[in-house]
Amino acid sequence: MRIPPFLLDQWLATYEFASPPIRYNLASSTGPRWAFGDLLALGDGAGLKDLGELRLSYAPPQGTAALRKQVAAMHDVDPDWVIITTGASEALSALYCLASEPGASITLPFPVFPAMPVMARAWGLNVSTYALDRDSGFKQSAERVLAAVGESTRLVLVNTPHNPTGSVMPYTEIARLAANLEHRLIPLVVDEVYHPLYHGAPVPASAAKLPNTIVVGDLSKALSLPGLRIGWLIDRDASRRERLIDLRSYFTISGSPLTEAIAAHALANRDEIIGRLRAVAAANRVALTDFMNAHADTLGWVAPAGGTTVFPWLRDGSDARELCVALANAGVLFAPGYCFDAPEHFRLGFGMQSEGFAQALNIVSDVLRAPRELSAVAGARR
Ligand SMILES: Cc1ncc(COP(=O)(O)O)c(C=O)c1O
Repeated sequence: MRIPPFLLDQWLATYEFASPPIRYNLASSTGPRWAFGDLLALGDGAGLKDLGELRLSYAPPQGTAALRKQVAAMHDVDPDWVIITTGASEALSALYCLASEPGASITLPFPVFPAMPVMARAWGLNVSTYALDRDSGFKQSAERVLAAVGESTRLVLVNTPHNPTGSVMPYTEIARLAANLEHRLIPLVVDEVYHPLYHGAPVPASAAKLPNTIVVGDLSKALSLPGLRIGWLIDRDASRRERLIDLRSYFTISGSPLTEAIAAHALANRDEIIGRLRAVAAANRVALTDFMNAHADTLGWVAPAGGTTVFPWLRDGSDARELCVALANAGVLFAPGYCFDAPEHFRLGFGMQSEGFAQALNIVSDVLRAPRELSAVAGARR
């Protein structure tokens, strides 16, 4: 089968892995970077003190007991419900694979993390979508999702907090949706990779405690550790778990006991790790709000209710690619909307830059105000 180019990751890789890398990364969907040494120094390091004796065999396919215990504690569920995966990416692929049968379909949001529809189709699923509409503040409601569910639907997915819009589906709506789908024997997948990063509102419980849900989580987003490549599934259904664990064995056999040990240590210290992201995101949101207010005639946006990204748009409806290229040349990375099939938008991440976010927005202001002198601005600011 033909897989379309992964435009978002190609764009990000061009600038992130350049030498030197882009100066200000406002495209990333993750949190501030962690050096391994800083992670090791968290807590009393007890979880990692025996690392030298760790056997580098396969880990159990469902993940080590120590890591599953930490994931379960974070979501307040039974550790037996937890299956460790290679990032949320593998968790999602396992779910698509399990749901796949001739004519079956999955219901996904639009816009969405671009790998979702591509990989669902790669596993043979048809895709139906429900729109997160900017005029309604990218609202996520059970009604809207249910309107896209049909006879052939085998799986429904919500992503809350949502990448790229920062929208949050209220807990009561998730519960209503899960209950409605249960009558139709359709499980609800809740991609919670940004849980528990909510802005302003009290942190709701994980959807993992709701019947008829399968929760997908990871260390990449709210825990800001994408390089560990750890994700998980939480499913109370024992027979489905058995099939998911088998799939995991087929896909990658198991995770690495080394990264699973580091991940368990990270999760044992999650308050500190998430606290750092909260502090960075809160400070950057203030600067971002000022910036958006100052450019309200040119840019539309919806302030984020959760997560680390927003999805502004050019009010004149033009393609944001030219602006994103000009900004990249000036040292600031946005992710252009064409990567999300929404060309007048761009994704702006406010979680990664622990410093320099306001300076980056000053460069963006210069570029927005002097579109014909982009290269001059770039030269002056670099
Ligand atoms: C909503 C969402 N789910 C899942 C993933 C997959 O992340 P990972 O494989 O790093 O856990 C991403 C990555 O950007 C994402 O944005």
